[in-house]
Amino acid sequence: MSQTYIADLKDHVGKEVTLKGWLYKRRSSGKIHFLVVRDGTGLAQGVVPKNDVSEEVFERCKTIAQESAIVVRGTVAEDDRAPGGFELRLSDVEVVHAAAEYPITPKEHSTGFLMSHRHLWLRSSKQHAVLRVRGAVIRAIRDFFDDRGFLLVDAPVFTPNACEGTTTLFETKYFDDRAYLTQSGQLYMEAAAMAHGKVYCFGPAFRAEKSKTRRHLTEFWMVEPEVAYAELDDVMDLAEGLVCSIAERVLDRCQEELKTLERDVSRLEAVKAPFPRLHYDDAVKLLNDKGNDFEWGGDFGAPDETLISEQYDRPVLVHRFPAAIKAFYMKPDPENEKASLSVDVLAPEGYGEIVGGGQRADDLEFLERKIEEHGLPQDAFEWYLDLRRYGSVPHGGFGLGLERTVAWMCGVEHLRECIPFPRMLYKIYP
Ligand code: 4AD
Ligand code: MG
Repeated sequence: MSQTYIADLKDHVGKEVTLKGWLYKRRSSGKIHFLVVRDGTGLAQGVVPKNDVSEEVFERCKTIAQESAIVVRGTVAEDDRAPGGFELRLSDVEVVHAAAEYPITPKEHSTGFLMSHRHLWLRSSKQHAVLRVRGAVIRAIRDFFDDRGFLLVDAPVFTPNACEGTTTLFETKYFDDRAYLTQSGQLYMEAAAMAHGKVYCFGPAFRAEKSKTRRHLTEFWMVEPEVAYAELDDVMDLAEGLVCSIAERVLDRCQEELKTLERDVSRLEAVKAPFPRLHYDDAVKLLNDKGNDFEWGGDFGAPDETLISEQYDRPVLVHRFPAAIKAFYMKPDPENEKASLSVDVLAPEGYGEIVGGGQRADDLEFLERKIEEHGLPQDAFEWYLDLRRYGSVPHGGFGLGLERTVAWMCGVEHLRECIPFPRMLYKIYP
């Protein structure tokens, strides 16, 4: 039996089709059954009037349990009231596998319960929509860089050195030695940029985040472009272009998903260049003017980020953070040696920092000093220092966190719903 996907039903109106999927929901009366079928591409409602089918099929429909695997055959009609917008008048219903009593019912469940059933929760319509948006964002990111002549270069996951400070390292045995799971592919992208000019990596990053927040995972995905001869302004332009391109793509391809998620799309439609650019010094003033006590030199907490981003209808680029709160590799600001040529992009609506990056230190002696000041082992960084010995040039890039971007696009509160199988403090099941 050939199979039609629910996403393609619009091309089959008035025709008889076969759907292969699972029973999402059932409502029955003495004379009619309503079966909502899902097949991975969408939801469609099947109606089974008693007089249309054999008694055997009608009886069978009475007992099919939620999430049973079913194959149904029927004629397609458009119907605005039906979930998915189509209704099928069914002539046959076959049960491929009768499901045991399904733990996720339409009643409210606690998040803890849903997270421990993540392998099943993925089937629910909102979770389904989020992963579809995630897929669209990934494609948008790859297209953005591929279309602009960037080369995808994969960074290693096992690393001998820290990139983003030593407090969040995951250590693992590596034969007789030890290694760390990568926190960021950046240092490797710097090497690759000196070979290929414009590069990016896109993969998982690991951080032993010991605080429980809705914005932190211990395993998350990050895209990291790196460009030879790029200065801070170029890095900001690139980040702005990428973020606009992602929002545009989601609006273009994910209308159904955004509807399922009840996302206010006007908030995404506002994401247009140019984004406001705010000097850290001015951000400090802004925070104090708006009533947050904040001293120059500090890092923004979530409430500070929210207060700053609330001033704008689109993402804001905050640049030139104090060097002391940023990583060892940041180039100092020639205007103020205490500041760095760094940039963070803060998403609107309180979604916080989605991008961190900047211009890299390109001077050998400066970097040697920084590595020492940060208490990092020089020998593990010799290869990195070589990049400043052999044809060092200004360069820069950034990292965009995939899950934070997806959370913002979807209007989902917590990052744990934006990755298929989240890893968080003390949570690694399923
Ligand atoms: O600001 P971060 O730490 O920057 C870097 O890792 C640079 N080496 C990137 C670069 O310049 N190539 O991280 C970049 C982004 C953050 O803005 C955030 O979106 C995301 O990665 N991120 C996290 N997302 C989820 N959970 C966590 N624990 C995250 N830590 C960072
Ligand atoms: Mg950061």
